[in-house]
Amino acid sequence: MNDHKLCNARMYEARESQKISPEERPAYHFSCQVGWMNDPNGFSVYNGKYHLFYQYYPYANAWGPMHWGHAVSQDLIHWDYLPAALAPEDSFDYHGCFSGSAVETPEGKQLLLYTGVTEVEDPQGNYTLQSQCIALGDGVDYTKYPANPVLDGKDIPDGFSPRDFRDPKIWLEPDGSYAAVAVNRTEDGSGAVLLLRSPDGFRWRVDAILDRCRNEYGRMWECPDFFPLNGKQVLMVSPQEMAPKGLEFHEGDNTMVILGSYEDKTFRREAVQQIDYGMDFYAPQTTLALDGRRILIAWMQAWRTSKFHTDARGYYGSFTIPRELQIRDGRLIQTPVRELEARRRNRVLYQNDTFTGMHTLENIQGRIADITVELTPAESGYRNFHIRVACGKDTYTEISYDPESSILRLSREHAAIRPEDIQVRECYVRNRSGALKLRLLLDRFSVEVFANDGEQTMTSLIYDPAEANGISFCAEGSVNLWVEKFDLQ
Ligand code: FRU
Repeated sequence: MNDHKLCNARMYEARESQKISPEERPAYHFSCQVGWMNDPNGFSVYNGKYHLFYQYYPYANAWGPMHWGHAVSQDLIHWDYLPAALAPEDSFDYHGCFSGSAVETPEGKQLLLYTGVTEVEDPQGNYTLQSQCIALGDGVDYTKYPANPVLDGKDIPDGFSPRDFRDPKIWLEPDGSYAAVAVNRTEDGSGAVLLLRSPDGFRWRVDAILDRCRNEYGRMWECPDFFPLNGKQVLMVSPQEMAPKGLEFHEGDNTMVILGSYEDKTFRREAVQQIDYGMDFYAPQTTLALDGRRILIAWMQAWRTSKFHTDARGYYGSFTIPRELQIRDGRLIQTPVRELEARRRNRVLYQNDTFTGMHTLENIQGRIADITVELTPAESGYRNFHIRVACGKDTYTEISYDPESSILRLSREHAAIRPEDIQVRECYVRNRSGALKLRLLLDRFSVEVFANDGEQTMTSLIYDPAEANGISFCAEGSVNLWVEKFDLQ
């Protein structure tokens, strides 16, 4: 086994990350140690701590041959970097250690299951193959299994592709055996989710086809997850090349959750929804917390905009705040992990604040804040309400609500700096006769909106400078506000 590339990556990241000041990073969101990051990988508990790995190219702020970066946390908010865990340097993963997952084995080891990418030379044009590989470790150092890959193109059903076969998400079954879901591209060119099983973590086989896209929800599916929650079985995927479906899905890469039931190798769909309705959210992965909560974390970026401003900082990539998941009234509900509340400082509270037109509130400003707003119509009601954050002289990012259509809108049309991209996203929220509750998590470079206690979320990066830190409210008509704001440390 080779580890030359891994040693280089470890030396490089230890040296170069020193050059990144804390102010260049988000205050309470995870960002990669140095260079480029995309998907969260191996989000799991090992030896009583949370481990988080990530798709990583340390040497540039752009995607390159994929390594796995690594970090560890006690509280899901503060993360300590660990040395890179995997580098693409063996015959079975020479062109990349793609996305995967981790689990603690009954023997006390940490098992990583990931996609190894290799290239096949072909006179018609080289192409890549994807297969599933494992590495075993102690939470810091990992040894790749010499007999990798453990599952490849020879092991999949007819009509399934050895080229697009990736992103295994593993778990341990109560009987001590292992299971995983992975995605594949089928004959019709669109994605499918395979259920994989193994008695010991080393010998794997395909057990069932759980679901297929059939070109209905995008094309290829990426980054699956599969878990029980509140009496339902949840299948999560990140579909590519989606066509818009009303306000539910937007063009291009999306994330989707399918709620259903699972029995006898059969998954039955009951409801389908978008996971996050903002611009910058992809490839979510979940883990089970020590106390049984199901926690999700996602890449806070979009492939579409991933070439924007790549050299502005010494790193390029951050994750959303970890979110607790629930199912309520047939919908996936997401709320920021409660651990964040321990970071709250300097409470500012306004109760019963009735106003019309433009409005600012003393001490409600800043780019690093946790703000809850409860809105109710006052007097003759209102036609539109908005909050502007990251306000500069004439620039801002806006969250607005139209009570008649019940549409919540997130817009960066008036941001000072914005990628050539979708600038507006909209979603329906529950019609509560004009009442609305919003929680906004603002960090230096992002905003996450949680509507009505997490029934919908909208996530967007904010590229405007730190000095753009105003917050204002506006009502066309008359509203009553309850506002609570904390700084976050
Ligand atoms: C999703 C993805 C995965 C793949 C990885 C490569 O963003 O395309 O399917 O494993 O990124 O970095």
